[in-house]
Amino acid sequence: MVNQALEDLVVARGGQEMWQRVKAEAGVCVDMFVRNHGYSDEVTYGLVSAASQCLDIQAVQLLEEFGVHWVLQTAEESYPELMKAGGKSLPEFLQRLPDFHTRISLLFPDLKPPEFRCSDRENNSLHLHYFSHRPGLAPFVVGLIRGLGERFQTPVSIECLQSRDQGADHEIFRVQWTET
Ligand code: HEM
Repeated sequence: MVNQALEDLVVARGGQEMWQRVKAEAGVCVDMFVRNHGYSDEVTYGLVSAASQCLDIQAVQLLEEFGVHWVLQTAEESYPELMKAGGKSLPEFLQRLPDFHTRISLLFPDLKPPEFRCSDRENNSLHLHYFSHRPGLAPFVVGLIRGLGERFQTPVSIECLQSRDQGADHEIFRVQWTET
């Protein structure tokens, strides 16, 4: 589903022709990604890297944009009920994020979803801890949170307090929002 969502984003930005170029560049010969079929992470990383080259945008920026797109389009179309159950406001959704993926790992034991924890909750901010087996996806998390902000029409700012790039064992984001 993630690969399919990436296809949507690339097609929206550069059309079918661009998607064919991205796949060729990544050495991916899949005609159509089948939802719920497991593809190796290398396919996704390869597509992100090729899309970044072909569209001439930094991988960090592409991953962020992809996060926004995933929340606003993909999750909305594929999991409307789950998204609704996630909460009625940005802070509520963030506080429930830890349960989200725990439930998913119970449903699909073969997946390796990330783990989230919240701490330091204040009126208009909290710290979101992100633990993942996969490297390099912190910008995707930033995009997902920005997408959630848009979903709830809540202006949000995200600051990375620590990251695995700097030797920490997980990322911590300070997420701050404005009540609307
Ligand atoms: C209906 C909503 C959601 C569903 C069904 C869902 C489900 C999943 C699944 C199945 C994976 C892949 C796990 C694997 O292949 O091993 C995943 C990965 C991920 N999810 Fe979610 N998710 C949802 C919402 C969110 C939200 C709102 C965030 C916001 C921060 C988020 C953050 C991530 C991240 C960063 C990954 C990347 C994988 C990693 O770091 O290891 N997800 N999710």
